[in-house]
Amino acid sequence: MQIIKAKDYAHMSLMAANVIAAQVSSKPNCVLGLATGSTPIGTYENLVNWYNQGNLDFSQVTTVNLDEYKGLSGEHDQSYRYFMNTHLFNHVNIRPECTHVPDGLEPDSDKACADYNKIIEEVGGIDLQLLGLGHNGHIGFNEPSDAFDKVTHCVDLTESTINANARFFETIDDVPKQAYTMGIQNIMFAKKIVVVVSDKDKAEIVKKAFFGPVTPQVPASALQLHPNVVLIADEDALSLI
Ligand code: F6R
Repeated sequence: MQIIKAKDYAHMSLMAANVIAAQVSSKPNCVLGLATGSTPIGTYENLVNWYNQGNLDFSQVTTVNLDEYKGLSGEHDQSYRYFMNTHLFNHVNIRPECTHVPDGLEPDSDKACADYNKIIEEVGGIDLQLLGLGHNGHIGFNEPSDAFDKVTHCVDLTESTINANARFFETIDDVPKQAYTMGIQNIMFAKKIVVVVSDKDKAEIVKKAFFGPVTPQVPASALQLHPNVVLIADEDALSLI
């Protein structure tokens, strides 16, 4: 594993965007695995800026996102499709049909997951997967459990996640209770993995995930077994290692 120590969030975002830009420049028809959440927002901002300056071309790029809430349409402002459109896809010259997010409106979970695994296979696998890191070590929606889930599957969201999301919805009944997520194997099959982490409150989990035992209780610990991982984290997130 390579560790890039960034000064702060802005520097981390710049470093991560650099790695992604290098991927897109060296293989214009690459497949990017993308993440939502607060951490990659600055990374996407840099990519959009460089595209606007004429320094990046997404016309041949394909993307596959990690996850999506079951039951939300892409127009819902809490859906991950909406997030990706807002933060990246609408601002660069990527072809919309080449951007993939699990279909939140597919009610049949088995079908939604099988369809998504097929998409990942059909695009030829992932060249570079961008990941954020959850406070409990989750990646995508792969939460701590007794075994690593391999491929795209449907997860029941924990009560604390549902309650935390409630503020974004009119009533608690509107809050998604499940999500579709790539599995650990989908992620581990990526040729390169870039993990972005920022802030002191992630320092403990960075230590556990990358320097503790490999266990499904800390899903990100599986990344220790991947041959090409770059951890790009700020000083605060790296403060315990
Ligand atoms: C996002 C995702 C999540 C986040 C993680 C960290 O698609 O799958 O695993 O990467 O929850 O989120 P932030 O960056 O908001 O701390």
